[in-house]
Amino acid sequence: MAADRTDAAGTRGGRPRHLDLDGLLADRATKVLVCCGSGGVGKTTTAAALALRAAEMGRRVVVLTIDPARRLAQSLGLEELDNEPRTVPGALRREAGDTGEGELQAMMLDMRRTFDEMVAGHTTPDRAQAIFDNPFYQTISTSFSGTQEYMAMEKLGQLTATGAWDLIIVDTPPSRSALDFLDAPQRLSSFLDGRMIRLLSAPARAGGRGLRKIVGSTFNLFAKAVSTILGGQLLADASAFVQAFDTLFGGFQERADKTYQLLRAPGTSFVVVASPEPDALREASYFVERLSSERMPLAGLVLNRTHPVHATLSGARAREGAETLEASQNDRVELRSAPSPGSEMAAAVLRLHADRVETAERERRVLGRFTRAHPGVPIIDVPAMATDVHDLDGLREIGRRLAS
Ligand SMILES: Nc1ncnc2c1ncn2[C@@H]1O[C@H](COP(=O)(O)OP(=O)(O)O)[C@@H](O)[C@H]1O
Ligand SMILES: [Mg+2]
Repeated sequence: MAADRTDAAGTRGGRPRHLDLDGLLADRATKVLVCCGSGGVGKTTTAAALALRAAEMGRRVVVLTIDPARRLAQSLGLEELDNEPRTVPGALRREAGDTGEGELQAMMLDMRRTFDEMVAGHTTPDRAQAIFDNPFYQTISTSFSGTQEYMAMEKLGQLTATGAWDLIIVDTPPSRSALDFLDAPQRLSSFLDGRMIRLLSAPARAGGRGLRKIVGSTFNLFAKAVSTILGGQLLADASAFVQAFDTLFGGFQERADKTYQLLRAPGTSFVVVASPEPDALREASYFVERLSSERMPLAGLVLNRTHPVHATLSGARAREGAETLEASQNDRVELRSAPSPGSEMAAAVLRLHADRVETAERERRVLGRFTRAHPGVPIIDVPAMATDVHDLDGLREIGRRLAS
């Protein structure tokens, strides 16, 4: 077990513990790392940066990205969505200390293809084809809310099963809520589960009108599916779909259970990513609580895009200074003496500094709420870079910050 994992550890001297990600990446016992958090906080960036860092530390790594920004995907060598891991060109810089054993592959999740693979893996080719051709399948495999989360888990299961890597880093979908990721299997299974199947297939066998009624009244999802499918084939298709899926469902369930167990197994760690904003940290809080109630191992929190202040000058002093300079500037104007451009500039810099100090203080206050609620969670913060992170050098820089 990695040294810095915690579920109930105390704080050190009232300050949050430091999240030692290098320790976690270097630990051969770490097999799966899941980066989660609410949308837009930096999950994909963190996952890719950790993967690159681990590979350069000598581990054989695959990173499963989900909806990476285009430029980031390109620099990972992911030109097309082919649902297969690809070697990242230029990822391994042989430096002193690099053992030369590392390897980095990356892939982008293709939700539809993963769904297809899952179906194909549980039935004969003929039956799989019949399912693929069914219009219900097409709607459900691409538009069921939670499918992307579920398929991310399925893909993780597949990657693990190959045994080809010694570390799998998983990005999670850009859901509004981080909890969607943990809820997905549940949701998909309650959708596919026996009750649903029975409800749909019983009236279908009885003649069809009942199905139409249930479809229309009870299940929005099906109502939606129905509205997108035209023609009299509808009931036959629905019934065929339900029956075909019925036979697969046990297999899906088993796989989902296995993956779920993998998430709780020693060797798996969760990294929760949040920006220093109230909403993102509130989400992070829910997620931390949820992981703990599911007994899933939390490594810690990455607080991404912070605005630390390096100068020691306080915000109030800076503002005061700016005001003094501006006042003396005004005096000059009144006295008709030459303006001093230097002092104007200095006042602007002081105001910028004061704003920055305020931002940093606000971020600290917001984080304070989180650390009081979860004093045992180790934290590392990553400052906001001047530009987006879209190439390997950018990822390396993020990696260094993650490890510092
Ligand atoms: N520390 C950072 N500094 C600057 N830009 C960042 C940083 N972290 C992430 N970004 C940028 O923010 C955007 C969102 O990040 P991303 O990793 O795609 O978020 P998520 O996967 O959580 O939606 C991207 O354009 C990324 O380059
Ligand atoms: Mg993302």
